[in-house]
Amino acid sequence: MISRRGLLAGGAATAAGAFTRRETPPPTHAERARVEPFHGPHQAGVATAPQVHAVFVGFDLRKDIRKEAVVRLLHLLTDDAARLTQGRPALADTEPELAADPAGLTITFGFGEGLFERVEVDSPVRPLPAFETDKLDKRWSGGDLLVQVCADDGLTVAHAVRMIVKDARSFTSVRWTQRGFRGATGGETQRNLMGQVDGTVNPTDLDKAVWIGQGPAGMRGGTTMVLRRIRMHLETWDAADRVAREFTIGRRLDTGAPLTGRAERDEPDFGRMNHLGFPVISEYAHIRRAHVTDPAQRILRRPYNYDEGLTEDGESDSGLLFASYQADIERQFVPVQRRLAEGDLLNEWVTAIGSAVFAIPPGCAPGGWIGEGLLG
Ligand code: HEM
Repeated sequence: MISRRGLLAGGAATAAGAFTRRETPPPTHAERARVEPFHGPHQAGVATAPQVHAVFVGFDLRKDIRKEAVVRLLHLLTDDAARLTQGRPALADTEPELAADPAGLTITFGFGEGLFERVEVDSPVRPLPAFETDKLDKRWSGGDLLVQVCADDGLTVAHAVRMIVKDARSFTSVRWTQRGFRGATGGETQRNLMGQVDGTVNPTDLDKAVWIGQGPAGMRGGTTMVLRRIRMHLETWDAADRVAREFTIGRRLDTGAPLTGRAERDEPDFGRMNHLGFPVISEYAHIRRAHVTDPAQRILRRPYNYDEGLTEDGESDSGLLFASYQADIERQFVPVQRRLAEGDLLNEWVTAIGSAVFAIPPGCAPGGWIGEGLLG
């Protein structure tokens, strides 16, 4: 494709021809209507390459709701998701035209401890322990039911969320809604609002690290999710120089390469010392504190940025919707979070202000519903 600068430098003679070439053709219907399968052994939206937009909705079940109603609700929402993700309107969709372009839409359901209590089934998830660095706000924490809606088009996401919320209304109240976005990087690792390349190290064998393979049948093929709303203190981060910023993470800002390497995917050399005898990647650098050697113990990070403008104090209300998926929260997420809470240079600039955990049941077959193995 011809760049704008090339076009301007090219002169008038070639400009006319170049102009038509410069226009990118509009996406074909097939490109726009990227469809992610809904049915299968796993729910979509976990292993799916992260779409550009995400909305996470945390619902609370109404007081009088018991198992039978929860099952009805899940039937209804599964049906909505099965239709909308395939580019078909929900039943009684008030704006069916908005369903035509799914744009890679995935709708993923998670069950909180409260839902399991209500249906009198042992909960596979427990709340996280308290971490000293947390400043949790109730309005971003907890929830009986999670619906995670992701797509490459904000309009698609908004429509899907509206249909889900409408159908859930008589059973639930919305506890929180968290909106996130990622850079449209075309396959490169995204950057977060601190400017860092974020999402380099992730598990590759999801059968080992993410999908539950043992235990009660109702969760096999499922996973667990931790959603943390982590505020970034961008005003003070702005004041840190580049060296300090890179030292904090243990990676370069431009390429995302470890401070001991050249390219993003190079293995960090945690043993390397500088000429003064200090480790090149600090003992308290984020990647050293967060690192696990056993790839099967890694967590799958699928973070989104959030930016809600300014707080009442005039500071930026921005950060990360840190979503991680792992087979076992206690064995995989908690030890990492504990090491970060005990000593991570990044703590100077980030604070967790919301926290929720959910069991993500396995997927379902056509005609089935999400949660049937647990509640059926
Ligand atoms: C706003 C908060 C956070 C920011 C800005 C952040 C940023 C980053 C960055 C830039 C990297 C290096 C590139 C990469 O591998 O993706 C990284 C790595 C990592 N982060 Fe975070 N992170 C945050 C919170 C967390 C939390 C809460 C956890 C888990 C409890 C976590 C776990 C990890 C892990 C496991 C790695 C890979 C470490 C390795 O190299 O093995 N991060 N993070």
